[in-house]
Formats: sequence, C-alpha cells, structure tokens
Amino acid sequence: MKPYNLLIVDDEKEILRSLTLTFAEDYEVFTASSGAEALDILKQRKIALVIADQRMPEMTGAELLEQVFRIDPNIVRIILTGYTDVASLIRAINDGHIYQYIAKPWERRDLKIIVKRALESYQLTLENQRLLRELQIANERLSDENRFLRNEVDKGLQDVNIVWQTPAMQHIFELVSKVANNPVAVLLTGETGTGKTLVARHIHHQGFRRDKLFIEQNCGALPENLLESELFGHKRGAFTNAIQDRKGLFEVADGGTLFLDEISEMTSALQVKLLQVLQEGQFRRVGENEYRQVDVRIIAATNRDLWAEVQKGRFRMDLYYRINVFPIHIPPLRKRIQDIPALADHCLKKHRRKLNSQADGFSDAALQALCRYDYPGNVRELENLIERALILSSGSRIEVGDWLPDLALDATGMTRLERFQRAEIERLVELHQGDLNRVARDLGVSRTTVWRRLKGYRAQPDPLLDVSK
Ligand SMILES: Nc1ncnc2c1ncn2[C@@H]1O[C@H](COP(=O)(O)OP(=O)(O)OP(=O)(O)O)[C@@H](O)[C@H]1O
Ligand SMILES: [Mg+2]
Repeated sequence: MKPYNLLIVDDEKEILRSLTLTFAEDYEVFTASSGAEALDILKQRKIALVIADQRMPEMTGAELLEQVFRIDPNIVRIILTGYTDVASLIRAINDGHIYQYIAKPWERRDLKIIVKRALESYQLTLENQRLLRELQIANERLSDENRFLRNEVDKGLQDVNIVWQTPAMQHIFELVSKVANNPVAVLLTGETGTGKTLVARHIHHQGFRRDKLFIEQNCGALPENLLESELFGHKRGAFTNAIQDRKGLFEVADGGTLFLDEISEMTSALQVKLLQVLQEGQFRRVGENEYRQVDVRIIAATNRDLWAEVQKGRFRMDLYYRINVFPIHIPPLRKRIQDIPALADHCLKKHRRKLNSQADGFSDAALQALCRYDYPGNVRELENLIERALILSSGSRIEVGDWLPDLALDATGMTRLERFQRAEIERLVELHQGDLNRVARDLGVSRTTVWRRLKGYRAQPDPLLDVSK
C-alpha cells in the first residue's frame, strides 16, 4: 500500500505519462485528461495532492483547483504552467489557494522534492486536525464531567437530610414516595427557603433514577439565549461564541432528573421548547435541524403563583397543565411552628463542628424566641440565624442574646405581627382622636379588646388618651 493518492490532470497524454512515471514508484497515481474527469475521481477517491495543468480546454487548472479547495481544503494543489502568464498565475494562486506553481519544463528531481514536502505538510495538517478534534471531544467530556462533579459537590455540601414534625410535612413526604418512581413532572411551590430544592433532590434519590444525574438549573439566572444553549446545547457555529458542538443539560441528565428552578422566569420561546420535551421527549440543539430524544424526569419549582402568571399571559397554559400534573406545595415555616425546634436542632448539629462551637442545645427562652419569629426567609433564614448564634455563643447552650434578627423581637418582646397590630391601632386611635369605640368598630373587635391591647403596649397610660370614654 502506498501512503498517498496523487491525481494528475493534463489534456496532453505525453505529460500524464511522464508524470506517472515520476511518481508511480512512491505514490498511487491517478490521471485525468480534463477538469470534469478529475472531479469524478475526487468523488470516489481520497486524494492527497492534485497536480493540474493550467492550460486545458473547458476548465483551466486554476478553476479546477478552486473547486478542489471547496471539496476539501486539505488537498494539496499544485499547478503546472507552460508559459509565464504572470497575471493568470497570480489569480490562480490567490483564488485557488495554490500550494505551488511549477513552470514547464520542470526538473524531475525538483518536482519530486516539492511533492514530498507538500505531502509532509498535508500529513501535519491532518494530524493537527485530528488532535484538535480529539481535544474538542475530550474537552466536551471534561465539561460534562465537570458539570456532573459540581453537582455532586453540591450534593455533598447539602446532605439530603430532611427534618419535619408537622402533619403537613408528613403529607408531603407521603406524596413524594408515591411520585418518586413515576415519570410525571412534579411542580414544587413555596416561598423562598422552604426547602423546594431539598425536596427535589429527595424525590430524585427516592426513585430508580438515583444512580443517574440530578442536575439543577435556575431559569432566572441566565438571559434567554444562554439558558437555551445551556438546556438544549448548541451546534458549532450556531452563534458567535459557539466554537464547538456542546451538549445541553437535557442530554447530560439523560436517564436522570433535571430540576428547573424558578420556572416562571422562562421566556415563552423556551416554554415552547420545554413543552415539546415534556410531550415528546424531543428537542433540538440550537442551530441544529435534527431532533434528539431524551428520557429526563422534570421537576420544576417556583416561588410565584404560576396560575396567576398564566392569567397574566406570562406563562403558557398548555405548559402549566403539563408541569402541574403533580403539584406539591411546601408551606412557609411560620405555618408549621412545630417544625422549628427540630429544624433548629438539625441546623445546630449541621454547623456546630465547622464553626468550632461547644453548643449542643438551646435554652428554653431561646427556643421560645425562635418559635415566635415569622421567618420571611423560611428554613434558610432559620439556618442562618443558628449559624450566627453558634458563632456568637460561648457556652454549651444557646441563649437569647444579640443574635436574633432585629425584626424578631423588640424591647417589649413583640413579634412582627404584634408590632404591626400595634401600629395599626395607634394609627386609628390618632385618627379618631382617642375614641376607642370607633377604633374598635374599624378593627371589628370589641372596645375592651382595643383597650386591653393598648394597655399591653404602654407601661404608662397615655395622658392624652382617655381610656374611660
Ligand atoms: N425540612 C428541612 N430539613 C432540613 N433542612 C431543610 C429543610 N427545609 C429546608 N432546609 C434547608 O434550608 C435551606 C433552604 O432550602 P432550599 O434551598 O431547599 O429552599 P428553596 O425552597 O429551594 O429556596 P429558593 O426558593 O430560594 O430556591 C437549605 O440549606 C436546606 O438544606
Ligand atoms: Mg431552591
């Protein structure tokens, strides 16, 4: 087997014969007597180098080599020219990306050297391209792995250790165990910090997909086009920075679970694509025509009222019904106060070691204070609070100190709700110039209640306020 195929094109039989003799010893030589014939051979053979005569009827050598360049830019192109027509040569070299021109008559030895060198550079180019391709594949694999590992690390940091006491949460975990092995989409709703992400992970780990990937994507974190290519992947050249083909998360998570957080933030174009995956398991990479098939479990989450978004025209109704097959609502922490002691304890154990703290429990007063707060940031806020307490506390018990948020308690030990009520009563008292009957009527409570509340707020009765009225 000779290493390279050469194609020699000339309308003069004599030249074809002579060149064949020159090269047949080292290479496989093919000959053609016209451009059209040469193009036919190029379709059938892998040619490494073409030597073409410039002056041929119908198609000149330069014109042929221009087409050769379009077929495969790696093929080495050499032109033979019998006369010194400088202008046409320059054009040939520029347009046809000619490697070299050789003036007739040629020195056989020179020609051999030129061809040998050209083929060496051809080999190098091919080798470079092969390495580049391998590098791209390795890169893609690495980036997949990287995404996988990042996810694993997250998992490690955030152990799927869930704590609950309330029947409401008990009910949620019964739902979870029912849906875990079912392919339907799950929609998790609830305020920020209630544990949606944790529950999503839990669903994944309960089901048969647990050995595959759980991948999380926040739909509000990226602009539309980046999110699209993150989720669905792209073809090389699909947009300016798409320097290579890239898998999207749907492909990376194939067989596993894709958790789409803040689903309400998806633009309507992406909602259409998501709907298609949910309905047919199919999608297209950005810039690609053919569909790809995946088997991915979708869990979506939102802290908005998704139905309200549908009514405002911001969320597609068909997608809403697809996603809302199995809704799970996680109540805010203030509606499940009985969970607080167990959660507080859980958070303490979770962070104690890292923070080098001696504390192994809470004083009764501290626990009571924790249970009285309303946690707009839910479990996440409770967790932050405990971390802060661990840093500030010195003994074995966490005491009520300066570590509760300002909002939790004021000097009188009132909660945010109580302070709101107080402000409202005071506003009405001022409005009605101390007439408690009218205040009571506005609030829909008895006059005695108003009076009792006011008394509770004020250590000293306000001299301006006639409570006997
Ligand atoms: N029942 C629970 N038991 C133990 N830890 C919990 C529980 N619920 C929430 N957490 C912890 O509270 C923090 C917030 O939970 P998570 O991130 O799941 O909330 P989220 O609802 O996804 O919030 P967001 O809407 O901001 O994404 C996490 O550190 C999580 O581990
Ligand atoms: Mg979350």
